[in-house]
Amino acid sequence: MTATATEELAEPYLRGVLASAGLDVEYVRGDGDTLYYRRGTEDVPVLDFVGGYGSTLLGHSHPELIAYARELLAAQTPIHAQFSRHPYANEVAAKLNRIIKRETGSDESYFAIFANSGAEAIEAAMKHAEFERYIRVETLRAEIGASIEAARTAVADGTVAAGEADALLADVTAHNDAVFAGTPPLFLTPVGSFHGKLAGSTQLTHNPVYRAVFSALAAQARFVPVDEPGAVDDVVRSERRWLHDVAIDGDRITVVQRPFPRFCAVVLEPILGEGGIHEMPEPFVRDLQRVAAELEIPVVVDEIQSGMGRTGAFLASTHLGLRGDYYALAKSLGGGIAKVAVMLVRASRYKSDFEMMHSSTFAKDSFSCLIAAKVLDLLEADDGEVYRTAESRGAELLTALQGLMKEFPDVVKDVRGRGLMAGLEFVEQSDARSGTLRELHGSGFFGYYVSGFLLREHGIRTFPTSSAVYTLRFEPSANIGTAEIGKLTEALRDVCSQIRDTDGERLAPIG
Ligand code: F0G
Repeated sequence: MTATATEELAEPYLRGVLASAGLDVEYVRGDGDTLYYRRGTEDVPVLDFVGGYGSTLLGHSHPELIAYARELLAAQTPIHAQFSRHPYANEVAAKLNRIIKRETGSDESYFAIFANSGAEAIEAAMKHAEFERYIRVETLRAEIGASIEAARTAVADGTVAAGEADALLADVTAHNDAVFAGTPPLFLTPVGSFHGKLAGSTQLTHNPVYRAVFSALAAQARFVPVDEPGAVDDVVRSERRWLHDVAIDGDRITVVQRPFPRFCAVVLEPILGEGGIHEMPEPFVRDLQRVAAELEIPVVVDEIQSGMGRTGAFLASTHLGLRGDYYALAKSLGGGIAKVAVMLVRASRYKSDFEMMHSSTFAKDSFSCLIAAKVLDLLEADDGEVYRTAESRGAELLTALQGLMKEFPDVVKDVRGRGLMAGLEFVEQSDARSGTLRELHGSGFFGYYVSGFLLREHGIRTFPTSSAVYTLRFEPSANIGTAEIGKLTEALRDVCSQIRDTDGERLAPIG
């Protein structure tokens, strides 16, 4: 049967979910902080605070980037020139290195592996970290094998009494074989993490809706509470495994325990994005850094949403004094028009053989890299003016949201974030006096109904963080102005009034 033109074939169920919350709108144009949908013959403007989940720090259709993209395409830039020299990729890597060295004070370089999306960058980080771990495991396997061989030789030449030696060596070998074969690698990541939805990265995403069904596919994570001192150490104590090595002590063989390199990497966002806009507590970050150093595993800093200057520094981790062994960047790196991501590995940990094991048809292409290089130039212009603007506009946004929390203390539970990565959390409506509000709560989509109301009644686009549906997320461009922040504030004031002073009927989708 062939599909009719009107038949929904591209994720029809999701289309239904959008419609149920009043969000099934087709946008036909984007410009700066505004998206437009068509109503009759007019383009209806919508003020966009979703910003591509953090992808449009420079706004939609940035004029310089659009002009540059046209220029590149007109010049027939060789987008598909795989397996050749890509100087434009090196240019992006060099620019990123200059920025990271400036912000972290590091004098060590980072090597770049390019990707097409955030999750792909995380997958590359997971694979490179596993490559590091694999080398440690195989080195240990060889060392213990050599010790066992030396012990067998000592028994054979009489240095060591045969006695129980054979049985002991057999037990040691059996124990180690079980550990080597039956101990999958573990990643450590905070509760509430979101690192993507591909086969590997989805296992680092805390929300079981995205992870549980696929957990047999890939490496596993342990999700560490961020507000429980010692929680990281507790997880390591409960999950670590030991190998048995042997040593010759006089005429005896003794067994020596050696830690099995079970843990692969620590992976964290400096500010949880999809998990509800929560800055990582500094004591927790320090614990993670300490444990990573003790386990000799890399700290992977996921700056896919928080990075690129959105929080007032190029890296949000800079605010935490956190220096990564790996960084993942994406979203705004593409300037709102290219799909580009990059995973950076500190030179001292970099395994160059990885380059022969990992690749992608579309990654590191000329168009995306040249756009990314231009984006970095725009961000770094005037000594990082965009970062300062993001900080000051973000402060104004957060102040406006905090004003609403003061005005509606029984409706707004919390305001969080830094710079232009802000969140407003509503009080849960599970026991609201209004049946409609209780029903919206029960749907599990509360924030999405609020989003539908904001779109329908105020021409504002924002979404909840999908793993924390009572938190609305605000990630506009650095060009967001006082007037737009005022328009958002007025609209949110109306939402708060609907929740506090009415039965909430207008929040439920019409029709
Ligand atoms: N890491 C972080 C911190 C992210 O916020 C996202 C996506 C990803 C990885 C995956 O990137 O979608 O390009 O594969 N965040 C969006 C969100 C989906 O809702 O916050 P991707």
